[in-house]
Amino acid sequence: MKVLILNDPEAAIERAGDIVSEAVRARPRTVLGLATGGTMLPLYDDLVARHDAGSLSFAGATTFNLDEYVGLAPDHPCSYHRYMREAFFDRVDLDRARTHLPRGDVADPQGEAEDYERRITEAGGIDLQILGIGRNGHIGFNEPTASLGSRTRIKTLTDDTRRANQRYFSSFEETPRHAITIGVATILDARATLLLATGEAKAEAVARMVEGPLSAACPASALQLHPNATIVLDAGAASSLTLRSYYETVHPGGQDSAFD
Ligand code: PGA
Repeated sequence: MKVLILNDPEAAIERAGDIVSEAVRARPRTVLGLATGGTMLPLYDDLVARHDAGSLSFAGATTFNLDEYVGLAPDHPCSYHRYMREAFFDRVDLDRARTHLPRGDVADPQGEAEDYERRITEAGGIDLQILGIGRNGHIGFNEPTASLGSRTRIKTLTDDTRRANQRYFSSFEETPRHAITIGVATILDARATLLLATGEAKAEAVARMVEGPLSAACPASALQLHPNATIVLDAGAASSLTLRSYYETVHPGGQDSAFD
């Protein structure tokens, strides 16, 4: 794993923005895997700013989001469809016909999940999968004990995740219990992954992901198996890493180096 540690959240966002921009410039028809959540909002702002400045175009790109809540229609204010439109899709030159999220409001969510996995395969797979991490170590909505061999399917959310996301809904009871999420194996199939974490609240999960045992108890630890996984952290999210000074020696200032 390439662990890049930046001094503050702003620098971490900019570093992640650099990595996404390089991928899109290198391959304009790139297939991006996209994430939602609070951490990603400033990353989308960064990408929109580069787009507005004329240095980045998404016109040839295809996107697949990680997940959507079961039961929420695309126009529901708390749906990830809505989040993506407001945070990113409506603000850049993406072809909306090539943006994909699972539909949470269909009669057969399991069938929708299987179809979504098929559509990713038909698009040629994901070139760069962008990820956040939950405090419980989830990636996408692959909650602790999710199979490391899992594909897109329905997952029951932990109460911890529901509590973390309750801020978007009017009550805990209204916070959905299920989501369609791409699987851990689907994520590992991406040709490259970029996980962004900021803030001390993520420090323990980050340490388990990078330095803990490979275990379904921390689904993000599956990224230890990925040959091209980059982890971008600010100082807070890096604060529980035992080998922090080693990562900072290998990648001074969070920059690339000849040898990992
Ligand atoms: P957050 O969510 O960015 O809102 O903390 C991340 C996640 O749960 O994957």
